[in-house]
Amino acid sequence: MSYFYTMTDYMKTKTFITMTFLLMMSALSIKAEIVKIDTDNTSIVFKADKGKKLKHLYYGDKLPASDLKGLSSAVGSGRSQYPDYGMITVPETAIAMIHSDGNMTLDLVVDRVERKTIDGKETTSLVLKDSFYPVEVKLNYKSFPEQDMLEVWTEITNNESGNVKLTRYASAHLPIRQGYVWLSHLHGAWGNETKVEHEPLLHGMKVIKNRNGTRNSHLAHSEVMFSLDGKPNERSGRTIGAALCYGGNYRLKIDTDETNSHSFIAGINEDDSPYNLKSGETFITPELAMTFSNKGLGGASRNFHKWARKHKLQHGDKERKVLLNSWEGVYFDINEKGMASMMKDIADMGGELFVMDDGWFGVKYPRNNAESSLGDWMVDTRKLPLGIKGLLKEADKNKIKFGIWIEPENTNVKSELFEAHPEYVIKPENRTPKYGRGGGQMVLDLANPAVQDLVFSVVDTLMTKYPGIDYIKWDANMDLTNHGSQYQTTDNQSHLFIDYHKGLRNVLERIRAKYPDLTMQACAGGGGRANYGYLPYFDEFWVSDNTDALQRIFIQWGTSYFYPSIAMASHISAAPNHQTFRTIPLKFRTDVAMSGRLGIEIQPANMTTEEKSQTRKAVEDYKAIRPIVQFGDLYRLASPYDEKGVASLMYVDESKDNAVFYWYKTKSFRNEILPRITLDGLDPDKVYTVTELNRIDTKPLSFEGKSYSGAFLMSSGLEIPVSHELPKEKKTDWSSRVLKLSAK
Ligand code: GLA
Repeated sequence: MSYFYTMTDYMKTKTFITMTFLLMMSALSIKAEIVKIDTDNTSIVFKADKGKKLKHLYYGDKLPASDLKGLSSAVGSGRSQYPDYGMITVPETAIAMIHSDGNMTLDLVVDRVERKTIDGKETTSLVLKDSFYPVEVKLNYKSFPEQDMLEVWTEITNNESGNVKLTRYASAHLPIRQGYVWLSHLHGAWGNETKVEHEPLLHGMKVIKNRNGTRNSHLAHSEVMFSLDGKPNERSGRTIGAALCYGGNYRLKIDTDETNSHSFIAGINEDDSPYNLKSGETFITPELAMTFSNKGLGGASRNFHKWARKHKLQHGDKERKVLLNSWEGVYFDINEKGMASMMKDIADMGGELFVMDDGWFGVKYPRNNAESSLGDWMVDTRKLPLGIKGLLKEADKNKIKFGIWIEPENTNVKSELFEAHPEYVIKPENRTPKYGRGGGQMVLDLANPAVQDLVFSVVDTLMTKYPGIDYIKWDANMDLTNHGSQYQTTDNQSHLFIDYHKGLRNVLERIRAKYPDLTMQACAGGGGRANYGYLPYFDEFWVSDNTDALQRIFIQWGTSYFYPSIAMASHISAAPNHQTFRTIPLKFRTDVAMSGRLGIEIQPANMTTEEKSQTRKAVEDYKAIRPIVQFGDLYRLASPYDEKGVASLMYVDESKDNAVFYWYKTKSFRNEILPRITLDGLDPDKVYTVTELNRIDTKPLSFEGKSYSGAFLMSSGLEIPVSHELPKEKKTDWSSRVLKLSAK
């Protein structure tokens, strides 16, 4: 589902089987027009009386039809499902507009209910009309039964004869009755992304928002969870999870007002973005993905992960390759010999893909640092005389695949592109621009169709010339600063934040249509693009530029609330770490990286023979557990944020025959007794044999090779020694374990 298509585009791409839906339930003698949308385990229910306000009645565990009759008497008068501004001005509203005659009010009432199938998924549309002005608002609920997910979005159509100006245009509103509701959300910064915060919802407004323009997940995340039964718990409790699927500026508001209800309103951040809608045009918001689980945060996360793999990610059912990325190994120092030796090394360690990062391009201006050359996507033959063809040959020789880094949405002032097309960059008139990375970086104006063609051609040219390219790392290292489109009309300057993303999605859709098999990573200075607005076009994202294994435990933990491990690129890097300068043994670094999509980002030439063989073995073992890690269900067992000195998680495959358990000591104090971790997600009746992977100890664990029932493992757990059994000179203060559990 895409946002802000015109209606004609939309009709072209979607299947519309429209039928009027009025759930009269006459057999049950219900007169009220009650609309119930089910997934396998959940229901959401509305009261949709024609000519009246649409009311929210229920969202939670699946209800039998017999409950519908008395529902509206049981839950009070019901809150508006999509509150509009104007006639009522005090509460927070989801939509506001200025009509063509200057009137600022809306009075939306139910007109009809439609049911249709979009992409094979049943979609219910609650159609509202203004009681006077010819404005139509469609609230769409697309259901994904098996994953208990709903996608909710809104279409606003202006049938007036003149323009209307949209000033508020939320994707969705969800009323939540106040009880003892807690909010869980993610916040952070570059290199310190996705820190988890939990807080009770008290009176007043909580706002989670972003204004970075081009990317949106370094600072806060457009995803939240609500725990309805008090303090969030991983394993139990009614939990609502919500993710705004949008790559641009977002705003999530939770207002707790005098009625002791929470109003959750999610959508594009309307700040500095009023949108003019011409007569006949439809504005389509991004989707809010929602799930409900009575199995706590963990249950909600697993719903997101399953939905992501099945419906959102590119190739969510295909195993990811183990790769070596050149960035932290050589940075900008790209040359033919260096690339060839890295390819040989990763092949020797069992890797399957080599990715050449930044530094390979630029003719007039060679890319030796961040100061120049973005936009000039021509190979620098001074560094790579045989070009990309030569590198592909080398990859072939080593029986691995080849990938390449680009940052196509940006340019440097010092580039042939900027010299030829200064009109392509985002920049207001009468101002000296603020530059990004390297002191001369600027963002290209994707609102401009010529720029869209240009950005498309970066990938298209590479793929046409070198069809052997298997993987593209698509970076985006600059925010949308310098608000001003050289392309948009004066009246529509406030469309820039939104039209940038409309343009980007057009480009990505063209790329995906032409190159469906290409693997693409979304990177944005690390974790700036971990969002379901981008992910439908990508296979994975770079979780953070911070590769420090200890901090990664925290970052990956937060990311896992909403994103599956198959999408989380996690690399073994050098010690001391290049971001934190912490020295962590290879074993621990490997154990952390093996809990996501394993990669390596190191100069293998600097590794000892012992480190290489340790890594070779780890890669081999990872390949054996890869289907469990990449397709299995995640159970978060002990949170690093609880400060108990330990973090632990596990993956269990669908059959519950195989699981992988990870255990990390997160601080080291002498004689500190760490909690024993009880496992989760296993079959209590199955018997699992324990095998340690990545073992460095001189003695096996006391339970190595022994078998235990799922019941025992889930109610007792295994006592993990706090340190490794090693000769004194090899001992460190670090300790971690990866255990494979097999029932067959
Ligand atoms: C960004 C990315 C890094 C690397 C550099 C290259 O910072 O996050 O992984 O690709 O750009 O310049």
